[in-house]
Amino acid sequence: MKGEIKELRDMLKIFSQIGADPAGGITRLLYSDAWKQAQKKLKNMLQAQGFNAYYDDVGNLFGLIEGTEDKEELILTGSHIDTVRSGGMLDGQYGIFASFLAIKNLLAKYGRPKKSLEVVSFAEEEGSRFPYAFWGSKNLVGSANKNDLSAVVDTNGVSFKAAMQEAGFDFANISQHPAKKIAAFIEIHIEQGAVLEHAQKRLGVVTAFVGQKRFDVVLKGTANHAGTTPMNLRKDALEGASRIIVTLLDKAKKIGDPLVLTFGHIVNKPNVVNVVPGEVMFTIDTRHTDAKMLDLFTEEIFVTVKKIAESLDLICEVNKWMDELPVPTDENLTNTVMEVLQENEIDFHIMHSGAGHDSQIIAPVYKTAMLFVPSIDGVSHNPMEDTKIEDLENGVRALEAVLYRLAY
Ligand code: HGY
Ligand code: MN
Ligand code: MN
Repeated sequence: MKGEIKELRDMLKIFSQIGADPAGGITRLLYSDAWKQAQKKLKNMLQAQGFNAYYDDVGNLFGLIEGTEDKEELILTGSHIDTVRSGGMLDGQYGIFASFLAIKNLLAKYGRPKKSLEVVSFAEEEGSRFPYAFWGSKNLVGSANKNDLSAVVDTNGVSFKAAMQEAGFDFANISQHPAKKIAAFIEIHIEQGAVLEHAQKRLGVVTAFVGQKRFDVVLKGTANHAGTTPMNLRKDALEGASRIIVTLLDKAKKIGDPLVLTFGHIVNKPNVVNVVPGEVMFTIDTRHTDAKMLDLFTEEIFVTVKKIAESLDLICEVNKWMDELPVPTDENLTNTVMEVLQENEIDFHIMHSGAGHDSQIIAPVYKTAMLFVPSIDGVSHNPMEDTKIEDLENGVRALEAVLYRLAY
């Protein structure tokens, strides 16, 4: 196993340089130069190991090992190559490297599989550059709709379409049908929370993903002079945003777990010390394991935004750009995964996922199972994101045992 730990550590080190940012994290946004460099390097590594490596129309990278008997029955495994801004070195890319190494180990030990095995490096999952998430996996299952992207631009005003074409891809022939005949999709990922650490377990088997909604809220008031505008005559957009944020956070804390609410991104205009803010845009990310509860809280959001905006004479727009239902993993496949882990004496903890993942998009279309490895102190989406190397390697071993059962 020593060799594998070294290989995994080397891959993480090499790829963590691609998109390394001054804050010590990784910023590898869809279709950026760092994104292109990472996909290209991965393609070369796949090819060097005998995988048939290729892109689809939108930039998902695949590495295929054809089966000797049942080529049609494809077992797919992998995760996403993009990151959040100044993210950690494991979110997404660990799952790709673990899949690559697990298949590489199986080929070395047992030769070609009966069923085809394929690694996937999804183009984009985070929704960090454009207000659109799961672009890679949505194209695999046919749920991406190019109309949703026609007016989408990043924070520098670059359109989705221009960024895509500049990277050498195009959504001219996006299909609304599943792209492949997949018998099973397995994703391994860092937990990004502290459940495994608290349970003192080294591996998680995921049974369901939370529902998740994301919004942009724009409040428009009047930019004005900080010195000559009396407090009662202001239309202060930042006051409106602040009151909305605190009111909703207090409501969410009162409702409690597993509801979560995050205001991650805020743009204050004109953002100048002596000007009353005239316009503010802020994002909302809210999640719950129960669809009904998530809908009820979303109603609360709309009512609160409207009430506070009106009380301050602000114009408000709420634009929903993500709405994913809570999704279970495939029961039979997940039972098979647990059986294999027990046979291989690999201990595990059954849990739901508070994070969204490509698996959540794939699960309604293809049989899907997901594994977690622990995150130290539950930290993620942060340059401090880390997992013990022996737990990363234990994850590779678990994935290898599952892929062996499914494909050999
Ligand atoms: O935000 C999430 O849940 C995931 O990391 N994209
Ligand atoms: Mn991820
Ligand atoms: Mn993430």
